[in-house]
Amino acid sequence: SVPQIKRLLTHSVYLKHTTAPWLVPHGSLSFKRANALRLPSQSLFSKSVALLFSKRSTRTRIAAETSATILGGRALFLGKEDIQLGVNESPRDTARVIGGMCQGIFARVGDHSEVEELAQHSPVPVVNALSSLWHPTQILADLLTLHENAALFGESPSTPADTSRRRVAYKDILPELPPLTVAYVGDSANVLHDMLVTFPRLGHKLRVATPGGREGRYGPPTAVWDRVVELECDKNDGIWWGTDPKEAVQGADVVVTDTWISMGQEAEAAQRYQDFQGFQVTEELCREGGANPEWKFMHCLPRKQNEVDDEVFYGPRSLVFPEADNRKWTIMAVFDTVIGKWDIDGDRWAR
Ligand code: CP
Ligand code: NVA
Repeated sequence: SVPQIKRLLTHSVYLKHTTAPWLVPHGSLSFKRANALRLPSQSLFSKSVALLFSKRSTRTRIAAETSATILGGRALFLGKEDIQLGVNESPRDTARVIGGMCQGIFARVGDHSEVEELAQHSPVPVVNALSSLWHPTQILADLLTLHENAALFGESPSTPADTSRRRVAYKDILPELPPLTVAYVGDSANVLHDMLVTFPRLGHKLRVATPGGREGRYGPPTAVWDRVVELECDKNDGIWWGTDPKEAVQGADVVVTDTWISMGQEAEAAQRYQDFQGFQVTEELCREGGANPEWKFMHCLPRKQNEVDDEVFYGPRSLVFPEADNRKWTIMAVFDTVIGKWDIDGDRWAR
């Protein structure tokens, strides 16, 4: 129901700290299939979404712009050099003004507090397009990719598609995933943080290695770990955390990493390259660490060779490009649900 959706969203990809994994079955695959048949929802018809991006982006921006178009609306890219925000105008005033003209805001910010502040003052839904702490829409694409590739993990794929309600909605038929062991080797950054608060809730186990471990310099900020504990994701052996990449990949069905130097950390590059020695994902690391021999590789991109070598990145284990493509269908589902179905006059989500 709408109140249920709204309650879920306020703790989810909309504003807050946790992804809404139900958005994957809810919409993403429907859009992928509907788009192939040229029958997507037009829920953004005559609506505009402001893309308030203070950092670079390839995938998230393109996914957002193309999604808005397919849903019948328009995305306005507002980079930090384009608008008054941060120079002549406060987030509070900016949110109010954009919210008076657009029907949603998709914001990529520096410090996480910036997107919280926008959300606090915006009259329209605000979705986090990446912040210092979280990257919720990335995890939706990762989940869709894993579900689509469920057969690789030993589960029989879907039942046949139900085409009887084609013009109204697509019945979502995502192959079920068996419980997976997902290893993350690298920096505790925004992408991992959303994995921490999402994967254990879906029955998958996480094994993480960062230099210095969870309490060390490259471990999660307090705000992130508090959220992990609040959601009880650390319970039932949901998360193992150590310092040794080889130990982390033990039994892993999926191995994931991210850049060692996130946007904004460029000044720390030399120190980080030194501290992350031994953390590159390679065939050798995973063989010696005892990963599942059929392990697959994921990465949010953009990627540098430091964190994963070419053999893995371009090899048959790699799901990175389908994962990147899936940013579009998942962001489309988010826009449709969170912005397209938002009724500004009623201050509520329409059915
Ligand atoms: N994965 C991701 O968010 O990529 P971009 O920074 O290119 O948007
Ligand atoms: N952790 C990376 C993710 C990029 C998509 C960053 O914040 O730069």
